[in-house]
Amino acid sequence: MILIDGKKVAAEMKEEIAAKVKELKERGEKTPHLAAVLVGHDGGSETYVAYKIKDCEAVGYKSSLIRYEDDVTEEELLAKVQELNEDDDIDGFIVQLPLPAHISEQKVIEAIDPKKDVDGFHPENVGRMVIGLPSFVSATPFGIVELLKRYNIETSGKNCVIVGRSNIVGRPLSVLMSQKAINATVTVAHSRTKNLEELCKSADILVAAIGVPEFVKGNMVKEGAVVIDVGTTRVKSDQTKSGWKLKGDVLFDEVAPKCSFITPVPGGVGPMTRVSLLHNTLLAASGEIYG
Ligand code: GUN
Repeated sequence: MILIDGKKVAAEMKEEIAAKVKELKERGEKTPHLAAVLVGHDGGSETYVAYKIKDCEAVGYKSSLIRYEDDVTEEELLAKVQELNEDDDIDGFIVQLPLPAHISEQKVIEAIDPKKDVDGFHPENVGRMVIGLPSFVSATPFGIVELLKRYNIETSGKNCVIVGRSNIVGRPLSVLMSQKAINATVTVAHSRTKNLEELCKSADILVAAIGVPEFVKGNMVKEGAVVIDVGTTRVKSDQTKSGWKLKGDVLFDEVAPKCSFITPVPGGVGPMTRVSLLHNTLLAASGEIYG
């Protein structure tokens, strides 16, 4: 069994990005600039956005954090999105989700200029990805594909079962895995799937992206399978300083001995998600996607 070290791969990618930023600066070109909009004080969102800002500093990007209280109106937020769309110094930006219930997330996502949509959530980027045009791809699916590539994991003709059909992970990943460069045969499983255990057991590559801690048990995994765990549920813990720890969607101790490759939680997919946003920001700054 090989433990896929997402932390190490992400660190390598960060170095590659930092080297490119250094070159840009030496040529006197503009420093890539990412902005993040954070509404409210949700613990998870605060942590994720803090990481995003820290990652920008680490590779030499400029970053801006724009904060609003929970009672910000949809109009105010949409006005800020418009301002960021028009600000030539900002190459890309994200609006951290979830948003408070009185704000339409879809309206906000659709207001973002697709050329600055480094989350890859805008329907134009999703559509472009589906038909194989250059696009911003959302961070977790991009990170997973990059891990498979960098570990030289064979995907062509393999059965890939993805448990979870979210717009952020499961569905876009299913598109990427079926594309010509990857050539997997993909099944997307969800809450209404019949015989889930049997289906998972047929997978050469099993991706758990349902957000239910330790959902995938040993009896659901084929001997020699590649298992990718996307779960990052925060659970209370008295063993950590912060008072919580991350739990994956895979019961690691049971599943790992059966695998050819497996991602741990933490240290697997999570760091790749973080570095993928940096990758997209560099693409946005270079204008490579939309010319
Ligand atoms: N909330 C959870 N994951 C994400 C993400 O990748 N981007 C944004 N904007 N919000 C999130």
